[in-house]
Amino acid sequence: MSLIKTPAEIEILKKGGAILSRALRLAMDACVVGASTVEIDRIAREYIVSKGGEPSFLGYRISPEDPAYPSTLCISINDEVVHGLAIPERIIKDGDVVSLDIGAWYQGLCTDMAATVAVGNVQPRNLELIRDTRTSLEKGIAVVKAGTFVSDIGATVEDFLKPRGYGIVRDLVGHGVGHEVHEEPQIPNFREPRMPKTKMRTGMVLAIEPMITLGDWRVYQKDDGWTIVTKDHSVAAHWEVTVAVTETGYELITPWPDES
Ligand code: MF3
Ligand code: CO
Repeated sequence: MSLIKTPAEIEILKKGGAILSRALRLAMDACVVGASTVEIDRIAREYIVSKGGEPSFLGYRISPEDPAYPSTLCISINDEVVHGLAIPERIIKDGDVVSLDIGAWYQGLCTDMAATVAVGNVQPRNLELIRDTRTSLEKGIAVVKAGTFVSDIGATVEDFLKPRGYGIVRDLVGHGVGHEVHEEPQIPNFREPRMPKTKMRTGMVLAIEPMITLGDWRVYQKDDGWTIVTKDHSVAAHWEVTVAVTETGYELITPWPDES
């Protein structure tokens, strides 16, 4: 299917994105000490469904031989980078760094976003990690514009984070989104000379999502078959928005959760 979305599709994506952002905001507000990850997941799911949407991760398979993802949210805590599960025994604790990732279908089109929250008394360097990861995403989306190379996004993210000593996860990347949960192009958060030289075009819809660690960039998958964890168990943060490429820049499809 075409990577270009029509103006009518962009309008639907914006409606879906507003719902998604609100669902994420409700989940973030529910991230308090003692909260169950299952309860946080339920809040997000019920909001999406109440607005006529459908969670896009629930039942999703990254590849056909993979198991179906069991939750609405990915809830990744501390050294977990992405794809952490909502499980009754998983309870939010004081000092946790919690990344919430969410996607939804709305009128046949899907959007994707993520945010990292600090719960209670979080170490200053973890707060800095959360803030710098978000800033790297803001800088990355600022270069989005028709005619610009997709690779400029990753170069911009890398140029901001690398001098600050962070690990930039390489095994997972941002992606096109809209007609599918994951579409072309891939969007690394770092310089990757082996990537095809793709230029952004008006109507492309991109999910840009730096996944950043306080230590090494290397990650592995836990034997639950989902959760991606840092190899050195350093704390990680993850922010993501969906944007539409325009002639002059971009349009934010998923409002920042603090503005929704
Ligand atoms: N949120 C991930 C992304 O941004 C996708 C999650 S896939 C799932 O690309 F199966 F884990 F839900
Ligand atoms: Co994504």
